[in-house]
Amino acid sequence: MVLSTGYSKIRTAVFISGVGSNLKSLIKFSKTNKSPISIDFIVSNNSKAKGLNYAKIYRIKKKVLNFKNKNFSESELLSILEINKIEMICLAGFMKILSKNFIKKFKGKILNIHPSLLPKYKGLNTHERVLNNKEKYSGCTVHFVNSRLDSGKIIIQKKVKILKNETKASLAKKILILEHKLYPKAILKVFNL
Ligand code: GRF
Repeated sequence: MVLSTGYSKIRTAVFISGVGSNLKSLIKFSKTNKSPISIDFIVSNNSKAKGLNYAKIYRIKKKVLNFKNKNFSESELLSILEINKIEMICLAGFMKILSKNFIKKFKGKILNIHPSLLPKYKGLNTHERVLNNKEKYSGCTVHFVNSRLDSGKIIIQKKVKILKNETKASLAKKILILEHKLYPKAILKVFNL
């Protein structure tokens, strides 16, 4: 990994689109002594994202960009991130696909969390597809982001057993709880901590 902690924490931005429960767990983790990162910026493509409330609660800067014109939004975003000295990005339920050009600018420094055991079940409606296929296990994965959807190098995964009467909602709920622990673990691993 190109990142090095040096003496201060790595300035990190979290990109969200919705509830932001992973954002909350990352903020809490970032405030612990063992965390190599600080959360200094929140980005959302959705002005109604509930997770944006954490910007206020934890006094973190935020920016909403609608991504209707991806080139335009991304170039604005790149300059905002530069001004704010952001070195690393954690995608957490961010529903937009970043361009090759954007990813290149943060090569090896963008992480994502996905609610499946990648490389299985990339993309949307993960839990539904897992249940339809009568899988015995599912889980979640933190990986580096490359230009192909949910396809970058895997950092860490956590597996969970699917129960007999499992529903989409029950599976989503129990995987989300695992996600909250897995993302901080992935960050420690990335920094060899
Ligand atoms: C998580 O399940 C994450 O894996 C997926 O979207 C969901 C986001 O949840 N990419 P939250 O907004 O962090 O609560």
